[in-house]
Amino acid sequence: MNDSRRHFLAGLAATAATTAAATLPALPHAARAQGYRRPPLAMPPLLDATGSGRFNLSAQAGQSDFWGSGKSLSSTWGFNQPYLGPTLRLPARGEVSARVENTLPEEISAHWHGLIVPGEVDGGPHQPIAPGTAWEPILPLDQMPATVWYHSHIHGKTAPQVYRGLAGVIHLTDGRDDARGLPSAYGADDLTLVIQDRRFDRRGQMIYDPAMPDIMMGFQGNVLMINGQIAPVARVPKGIVRLRLLNACNGRVLTLHMAEGRPLHLISTDSGLLPAPEALETLVLAPAERAEVLLDFSDGTQGLLATGPNPNRGMMGGGGMMGRRRGGMTGGGNGGFEILPISVDPALPARITRLPENIGGSLPAHDPAEVVLTRRISLDMGMGPGMMMRPSGARFAINGQPFRMNRLNFAARTDQLEHWVIRGHMMAHPLHVHGCAFQILRENGSPPLPQNRGWKDTVLVNGQAEILVRFPHAAPSELPYMFHCHILEHEDGGMMGQFSVG
Ligand code: C2O
Ligand code: CU
Ligand code: CU
Repeated sequence: MNDSRRHFLAGLAATAATTAAATLPALPHAARAQGYRRPPLAMPPLLDATGSGRFNLSAQAGQSDFWGSGKSLSSTWGFNQPYLGPTLRLPARGEVSARVENTLPEEISAHWHGLIVPGEVDGGPHQPIAPGTAWEPILPLDQMPATVWYHSHIHGKTAPQVYRGLAGVIHLTDGRDDARGLPSAYGADDLTLVIQDRRFDRRGQMIYDPAMPDIMMGFQGNVLMINGQIAPVARVPKGIVRLRLLNACNGRVLTLHMAEGRPLHLISTDSGLLPAPEALETLVLAPAERAEVLLDFSDGTQGLLATGPNPNRGMMGGGGMMGRRRGGMTGGGNGGFEILPISVDPALPARITRLPENIGGSLPAHDPAEVVLTRRISLDMGMGPGMMMRPSGARFAINGQPFRMNRLNFAARTDQLEHWVIRGHMMAHPLHVHGCAFQILRENGSPPLPQNRGWKDTVLVNGQAEILVRFPHAAPSELPYMFHCHILEHEDGGMMGQFSVG
């Protein structure tokens, strides 16, 4: 076991210890002075396209009053609203017409992270939407029900654009959750939680001011937001509640758990449902990963969703080269955060009162004998003073080469089973691959963690991960698929590659 791996695991173990210390987030000075009141949890607006087969998004600039005081507005971006975008409900099978309009002063794109669609409509860096124009892809959907998402993906600008708010959630549905015994009432027993850390200055304005340590570690905020709300509180029925969790942080790895010790019953990973719920004490959720969990509130007691410290920070901190930098975290004990207090309201109708035993999803079980080729992928970062001298797009690399718009890393064949051996350097990196759902075969030579046995499109590579992957659609060399670290500062800094499929 290498050193970083050991520290990472130690960080995970420490999570349990910090749980009890989870407190109210430390609010910036301005907010305390303004007497901030915690709001009831609000869902993003639901944009249901299952009937019409079409939806419109409009990227726009706005002002967000995150503290509700009217005194410290933040300049933000969003889709159809000032910050973040609506939750799209799309059919897991069927054709959907999208229209994405850009009213912002710079290029954006709309990447469907987790939709398994051809390169022509994937919305990556080669498909910019110029200011004042619109993009109208037709999405041929045919995959498992899942919680996926969308965000801008302009090379070199993904980090600041997503940070400002250009992201939203997609529910892919086949309309059969009732038959599975799964909660599905949006905002009632089926809660969507976009989890983000954001940095606020003393005046209470959201800022993005990455210094070199932020670029190295991924930008970390001092305030945790859910769906663009600071420190909201949830009320749920006395029964089973579903949380759809998205880590939409630029760089923070979350170690999610319930402070009172209630198990998280994992029902879905990035790309689809599991066969049956899997009880977890702690769920590690890296940037871009999604998970759906069930919580059992039938005993009527209240709960508290919390996260421990960023294990990546633990690895580099404590006197290491990244230790003792300015300020540190202002969250709860030891850099953990309270995320969401949940209280039970017996007056709310409880639709589901028992945990389902069988939810009918599948575990990927590719046959390694069908593997046609092995690719070795190394996620590289330069360190030390030399790194700062490099141009901003060349501080990170894949297989020694920083991303370049006009260079393909390889050409893959449709429907061939590939084995990728991915090595991450210096810290844990969430590797995301476009155009697929994959199976995690091994992590550091061992069978994957229980939370990593389902279908995935992003894997937190902490040491070495091996995946089995197949690409059902084509991606021409002019509109290739990306694969990259989803710590957005690493992605923008060059830890990205691209490939065609044909
Ligand atoms: Cu979530 Cu290539 O992106
Ligand atoms: Cu993606
Ligand atoms: Cu990375």
